[in-house]
Amino acid sequence: MKLVVLVSGTGSNLRALADAIDGSRCGAHIAAVVSDKRSAKALSFATDRGIPTHVVPLRRGDDRDAWNRTLEQTVAGYDPELVVLAGFMRVLGEPLVRRFARRIVNVHPALLPSFPGVDAPSRAIAAGVRVSGCTVHLVDEGVDTGPILAQAAVPVLPTDDRDSLHERIRAQEHALLPAVVDWISRGILSLDPAPALHAEASADACLVSPRLVPPSGNEPQ
Ligand code: GRF
Repeated sequence: MKLVVLVSGTGSNLRALADAIDGSRCGAHIAAVVSDKRSAKALSFATDRGIPTHVVPLRRGDDRDAWNRTLEQTVAGYDPELVVLAGFMRVLGEPLVRRFARRIVNVHPALLPSFPGVDAPSRAIAAGVRVSGCTVHLVDEGVDTGPILAQAAVPVLPTDDRDSLHERIRAQEHALLPAVVDWISRGILSLDPAPALHAEASADACLVSPRLVPPSGNEPQ
């Protein structure tokens, strides 16, 4: 399955995905990495691995509609079967979301629908929750509002600060995101017309609670 991966930051999820692909744990191929930030460390990782990269920068005062169109054309140029947001810190505009409807997934560092948006680990600590985690979900035009595909839970320890919690969550993301991409590539998880898991999927390294759709198509009680 051909992927385009969108990144803004360090790219640890991109690395986890690339490592899973190289280790035959994820049946996909990264055709390109696209960033809104020239300085994203993820870009140098991609270049080192021989993956084509593109930067579509958005500076203050830029025309957002034009940026959305350029981003859509850049991604569409690779004709990906799935677009993966791996730490892409921009809300996608209509051109990309429409063109790749039900074919864009995002990884978020909280158990959605709790704590959508930025600084999720800090807000989980501030709220006093005892359990947080990560979510892989389909992307729509909202902020972390698309249908949930899979989640992994992470305890919030009394000693946690934002960084320690986020690191523990990241470790789960690194297992969950490649697992979900692999399920999609193998047809275990279909996304269209709505997410449906067709067989028990296992992600060894993490606690996953997918919603299994029985053969009848009825939701479990
Ligand atoms: C991850 O925690 C992801 O959930 C969020 O951005 C972070 C990206 O981390 N959307 P990295 O760049 O993959 O290390």
